Amino acid sequence: MKQLYGPAVAGLAAAALIALAPAGAAAESSGRNLALSCFSCHGPAGKSPDTIPGIAGKSAAFIAQEMIAFRDGKRKSSVMMRIGKGYTDAEIKALAGYISGLK
Ligand code: HEC
Repeated sequence: MKQLYGPAVAGLAAAALIALAPAGAAAESSGRNLALSCFSCHGPAGKSPDTIPGIAGKSAAFIAQEMIAFRDGKRKSSVMMRIGKGYTDAEIKALAGYISGLK
């Protein structure tokens, strides 16, 4: 019995795991990975100890809007305009979602 059901159950469990993995989880982990490169300037976990503005906990809407403004040249900044160009809308959304959740 065990041999019969074992693989089938394992297969079902794996299928359930894949089906259950919410899209949000993927966005969160990619947001975290993308955000690591921001922290060199914006401080550990986005809390800046210096004159560069901190970004942790700012609203996702604000972060996304400013990133897009930098990228599209609507907000001038020597560094952020260049950095903004490296990200797609989807990546900016993932970044903004992750960073806004940092305390
Ligand atoms: C090389 C340093 C550097 C890196 C790396 C960097 N930033 Fe910035 N960022 C700045 C500076 C400097 C400013 C202030 C820009 C200005 O007003 O001219 C800024 C401003 C911002 C602002 C506007 C904050 C506010 O309160 O107005 C946001 C949002 C932001 N950065 C997001 C990011 C994100 C997201 C990343 C990673 C993808 C990132 N930054 C990476 C230097 C950096």
